[in-house]
Amino acid sequence: MNDKIIVLDYGSQYNQLIVRRMRELGVYSELVSHTILAKEIQKDPSIKGIILSGGPHAVYEEDSFQIDADIFNLDIPVLGICYGMQLMMHTLGGKVKKGNHQEYGKTTIHVTLDHPLTNGLNQNLLVWMSHGDIVEKLGKDFIETATSTSTPYVMVKHLNKPLYGIQFHPEVSHTPEGMKMLDAFVNLTHANRTWDMKHFIDQKIDDIKTKVLDKDVILGLSGGVDSSVAAALLDKAIGKQLTCIFVDQGLLRLNEGDEVESYFRRNFNLNFIRVDAKALFLKKLKGVSDPEEKRKIIGNTFIEVFDEEVKKLTDVDFLAQGTLYTDLIESGTKSAQKIKSHHNVGGLPEHMKLSLIEPLNTLFKDEVRVLGLELNLEHALVYRQPFPGPGLAIRIIGDITEDKIRIVQESDAILREVFKQEKLNETIWQYFTVLTSVQTVGVKGDQRSYEYVLAIRAVSSIDGMTADFAYIPYEILSNISSRITNEVSGVGRVVYDITSKPPGTIEWE
Ligand code: XMP
Repeated sequence: MNDKIIVLDYGSQYNQLIVRRMRELGVYSELVSHTILAKEIQKDPSIKGIILSGGPHAVYEEDSFQIDADIFNLDIPVLGICYGMQLMMHTLGGKVKKGNHQEYGKTTIHVTLDHPLTNGLNQNLLVWMSHGDIVEKLGKDFIETATSTSTPYVMVKHLNKPLYGIQFHPEVSHTPEGMKMLDAFVNLTHANRTWDMKHFIDQKIDDIKTKVLDKDVILGLSGGVDSSVAAALLDKAIGKQLTCIFVDQGLLRLNEGDEVESYFRRNFNLNFIRVDAKALFLKKLKGVSDPEEKRKIIGNTFIEVFDEEVKKLTDVDFLAQGTLYTDLIESGTKSAQKIKSHHNVGGLPEHMKLSLIEPLNTLFKDEVRVLGLELNLEHALVYRQPFPGPGLAIRIIGDITEDKIRIVQESDAILREVFKQEKLNETIWQYFTVLTSVQTVGVKGDQRSYEYVLAIRAVSSIDGMTADFAYIPYEILSNISSRITNEVSGVGRVVYDITSKPPGTIEWE
């Protein structure tokens, strides 16, 4: 069994990041409820360290999340971060109060005394703060080891117990030495650093088998990274007990439906059902121009088709989804505050009465990619550029027709081909073509033409939240433009979108 470090969840948006940092340091870690009791921890000898996360509340408020004080007497190292440190002080005889002002962002702190977490680091350190409250009085037998101009107690330790507190967030990348501090904490716990993706796979396979037993599982496969990795993992665990339903809306890129189907049929044991629902989607979308209306129709039609397929199967008890941790946290956990709802979470109708299996819901996107490679999924699939659920429907401005879908598919294929030749596909985050609703005059073979304007969109981005248009050499743009106007019938003019996000979005709809 792996040693582990548990993170008590006090609701910080960063709490899963702490878990992830522990894993990066080679120690298995999980987020557990702050209501866990000392005696429960004692029963699990694999727990070598405890981290109390940050959180949005104030420790002195009524109803704020507290801790079983006996945890501090277990002789297991405890690291309190932000709210976690304040809670430690509050519980052990100190005092926390509202600060004169809130402190968010980068701050320089000064190390005043040796602290196991700052050993070997500079005396002045840049850290990331995010708090409104401050510790006014230390808990009994605690001493201060670092301070800043606005916060008196920035780092503290107990004189004779393995209890440590830090007011800032070592887990975020804005604290440059944060990983070294967390690494030092792992050393203090003496936890074995034996965790890696192979362990994750073994453990998930066990979990899935134990949960599913001999029942059947369905999974809606889109061919995107998340659902493909989830399918590969379940395939390894339960093989033929898994049925993947691939709803082909007719809104995928050129040949993509065939590629997804043949890839999954060739490489896996799972049952694969491809539903050709193109005609139904086209019918429902006929004459619809409003982008949100398109999204709604596509979402509802997907559920309808999926539901129909599931009804044809017998003995299905489970629905598997490739939900990521970030999907969950954005939709609000029990402790974290809700930021926005997410389309993957809670999408299917209740009457389906299926239990959910979400094997990726503790992972971040880049961890899912590592997992995909570990499961031998092909590189091109694991590193696919993002593709929106509503597909090409939101890349056709105005109403959707079969011919417009053809134009976007053919032009997109040319764009991808050229980007691949020029190796731009390795550096540009997302790229595609958009069919506008504008037609313009041109000349083709001595004849007057009146054809569509097609836009090229290519952006660099880290996470899609912000983006800059990509800098593409003119010669390449020229090649793309002449190929598209020559090879794709219906396109008379090609333009390049030079808008960043914000103020634009990446997609046009
Ligand atoms: P925007 O256009 O909002 O896009 O700047 C940011 C990222 O999200 C993708 N996107 C979607 N993905 N359903 C999805 O699954 C959607 O309705 C949707 N709209 C945008 C977009 O491709 C980009 O990567």
